[in-house]
Amino acid sequence: MAITLSNFVPLTSKTLILVMVLVVGVIVNGSEARPNNNNNNRPKAFFVFGDSLVDSGNNNYLATTARADAPPYGIDYPTRRPTGRFSNGYNIPDLISQRIGSPESPLPYLSPELNGQRLLVGANFASAGIGILNDTGIQFVNIIRMYQQLEYFREYQRRVSGVIGATGTKALVNQALVLITVGGNDFVNNYYLVPYSARSRQYPLPQYVKYLISEYQKLLQRLYDLGARRVLVTGTGPLGCVPSELAQRGRNGQCATDLQRAASLFNPQLESMLQQLNRKLGRDVFIAVNTAQMHNNFVSNPAQFGFVTSKVACCGQGPYNGIGLCTPLSNLCPNRNLYAFWDAFHPSEKANRLIVEEIVSGSTTYMKPMNLSTILALDATT
Ligand SMILES: *[C@@H]1O[C@H](CO)[C@@H](O)[C@H](O)[C@H]1NC(C)=O
Ligand SMILES: *[C@@H]1O[C@H](CO)[C@@H](O)[C@H](O)[C@H]1NC(C)=O
Repeated sequence: MAITLSNFVPLTSKTLILVMVLVVGVIVNGSEARPNNNNNNRPKAFFVFGDSLVDSGNNNYLATTARADAPPYGIDYPTRRPTGRFSNGYNIPDLISQRIGSPESPLPYLSPELNGQRLLVGANFASAGIGILNDTGIQFVNIIRMYQQLEYFREYQRRVSGVIGATGTKALVNQALVLITVGGNDFVNNYYLVPYSARSRQYPLPQYVKYLISEYQKLLQRLYDLGARRVLVTGTGPLGCVPSELAQRGRNGQCATDLQRAASLFNPQLESMLQQLNRKLGRDVFIAVNTAQMHNNFVSNPAQFGFVTSKVACCGQGPYNGIGLCTPLSNLCPNRNLYAFWDAFHPSEKANRLIVEEIVSGSTTYMKPMNLSTILALDATT
């Protein structure tokens, strides 16, 4: 039976944690009980690519304004300190890695602590501000663009070969789980960044979306060529409904129509591009994650998920707390679990938990062709 979001609402966070511990326990025991073709008892390695929604701190090591290394970021993280995650606590990669039984979240690739055995857990290559296109986020200057993230993935594999050899490395990468989250910035920090942007003068929106999809396909093909075989690909959320857009473009608290239109063109085309790729490759490599629908659920009915609002950010200033950055001087809500949005763009840890719940056990409305628990079960037996 699929666990729907609403099943989780009445649960206290204690029960939620208990359920998570149980699920992780089941997964770990399951892989021990089965004959192991992995040549080891390690959980799957986990690799993360994309933008600020999944960056766990790479930008801390870069000269860029796209960073989350000052309070109150991290206020609900176990250390209560900022880490570079764009969240009050855990982000989506953290919660997924807990669900696949990893001993820890994959470290940012630029972290000096990513060495030796720790490399075998995986790595996070994501960088806040980046997009599918090289010219997205140019205002952030030094960020790790997609082609560079993929180049680092290649370099990572060379380094791992030094630890477990070339054959071991190939197996580790082929059996790994990959998450990629990119595309939102190609609208927010490119096409719609300023009126009459270069890209918006070059393309009408439908042609721009087509161009993005064709460039994204090349990146995913490259990821496959580098050995990835299970890749969760998230669509964009409801871009026009984030507090920043409500403050700047929305009329009377309505979602901004141009960005909503962008998301509604992009997401279905992404899904069919993934289907085509899978057909071409003859296997279900790419899994479409319908983050738009997951977000829409709590945007349209926040109370059902225990939120007091899905319009106002917990941390920020101005209308909807949607203007400028989240800084030590910003308004800060006392209870982060009551807010769908942590800052003007990024979900709270609580919202991230709801999203990951659907990734793990959602129906095909959310996960196509299958959810993460099905993937884990399949990969444990093949
Ligand atoms: C992005 O930049 C890389 C490196 O310069 C280049 O190889 C790639 O073709 C560029 N992509 C596009 C779409 O221009
Ligand atoms: C998703 O996961 C649950 C197990 O948590 C399973 O029962 C369900 O059938 C799965 N749904 C799909 C569509 O794979």
